[in-house]
Amino acid sequence: MKRSTVKELLAFTEINSDVLLKGWVRTRRGNNQVAFIAINDGTIIHSIQVVADLQSFPEELMKRVTTGSSISVTGKLVESMGKGQNVEIQAAEIRILGDSDPEVYPLQKKGHSFEFLRENAHLRFRTNTFGAVFRIRHALAYAIHKYYNDRGFYCLHTPIITASDAEGAGAMFKVTTFDLDGIPRNKEGDVDFTEDFFGRPTNLTVSGQLEGELGALALSSIYTFGPTFRAENSNTPRHVAEFWMIEPEMAFCDITDNMDLAEDFLKYLIRYTLDHCQDDLEFLNKMVDKGLLERLRFVMEHPFERKTYSEAVEILMKADRKFEFQVEWGLDLQAEHERYLVEQHFKRPVILTDYPREIKAFYMKQNDDGKTVRAMDVLFPLIGEIIGGSQREEELDKLQNRMREMKIPEDELWWYLETRKFGTVEHSGFGLGFERLIMFITGMSNIRDVIPFPRTPKSAEF
Ligand code: 4AD
Ligand code: MG
Repeated sequence: MKRSTVKELLAFTEINSDVLLKGWVRTRRGNNQVAFIAINDGTIIHSIQVVADLQSFPEELMKRVTTGSSISVTGKLVESMGKGQNVEIQAAEIRILGDSDPEVYPLQKKGHSFEFLRENAHLRFRTNTFGAVFRIRHALAYAIHKYYNDRGFYCLHTPIITASDAEGAGAMFKVTTFDLDGIPRNKEGDVDFTEDFFGRPTNLTVSGQLEGELGALALSSIYTFGPTFRAENSNTPRHVAEFWMIEPEMAFCDITDNMDLAEDFLKYLIRYTLDHCQDDLEFLNKMVDKGLLERLRFVMEHPFERKTYSEAVEILMKADRKFEFQVEWGLDLQAEHERYLVEQHFKRPVILTDYPREIKAFYMKQNDDGKTVRAMDVLFPLIGEIIGGSQREEELDKLQNRMREMKIPEDELWWYLETRKFGTVEHSGFGLGFERLIMFITGMSNIRDVIPFPRTPKSAEF
């Protein structure tokens, strides 16, 4: 007989048919006549109830049906008399697939903290919360590809190992095959990278943007969706050292088009999850964050506020609230400032544009005022910055001037500069932090709980 998943069985309408089910025992209760076994196989948040008449099964076998064990059940799918489920399985045959000693199985019936589950990240997928989070993560990954594919964007795989730190987005992880106990040095005593695998210093990418621009300046609209790495030593609930980023890049597109895309994209993803992940969202709304569904609907239904950085600074300076970090034109905004604007002042997502050039990357389009660049950050409730992007500087001389000012070696980026020499066009793009998006959509408050195996300072278990 072909195995049916719990998801299939719970949707099943043909009562009284014979079925085969395989899964993990979540709970077991009952009396000395009958056992009620809740089986979950991760295909859906719900478990299905298996009813076993103890007379029909050897005691030795039933003793092994414990929380965490895996079993296979054949039986009849019948309407359930009990509360909380429509159907259940009347067991005819039970086989143990894998035992699980209840004395040492780390997941007990109820109530583990997220901290505890992080230390047991190899098993946390088996809990309702993490099952829901990672099913939603999957749905979003699919929806992102669908969104861009439906709109004529091409998915471009940009390199994970790169030789430039053009972005300056954060400290980088070095990539080398050197034996760390005997690194070759040249006559001057410096590390001799000509001996290394690539013959030059290399690192893990902090962003696929620069290569993405090369693609957009030929294919019109591209997006990347890949892992990025930042060796920032920041232990916050919103930073990890390895995270996934979605970076669309569009030729013939200015910052307003870029903002329109960002807003439409985020709303599409929220709607997609509301339409396709109802059970999981309802569970999270009940157990993790009671305001979740309301917040998702609110963000989906209201226009984002669009303001300049300078307007934001004015608002913050007038705020009758003491911030830990100073507010002054020219300084970068901190999470507390961003959240004040979104949660207290505008009470909705905010897109800030035209930041001081000194705090932004070299490639951003320079405004005529000589002070600001056409940057845009999308700020979300509870999250702060969820998207960072900009219109790009497409004029060769302005770009070169800025690179000189910032001491960015032109010879390292000769290929980037050539796109401005040969048929340059206006273009824009942004980066969405995938984990920050998942945090917002699931209501989980720590980024370590929305990526299967988080990498953070001093922590790379699993
Ligand atoms: O603002 P960032 O640094 O922008 C870029 O990298 C641009 N090259 C993107 C582009 O224009 N194509 O990062 C983009 C987003 C942030 O808004 C945030 O959501 C996320 O990436 N992010 C992180 N997420 C988790 N952990 C970290 N350490 C992150 N750093 C950035
Ligand atoms: Mg940023």
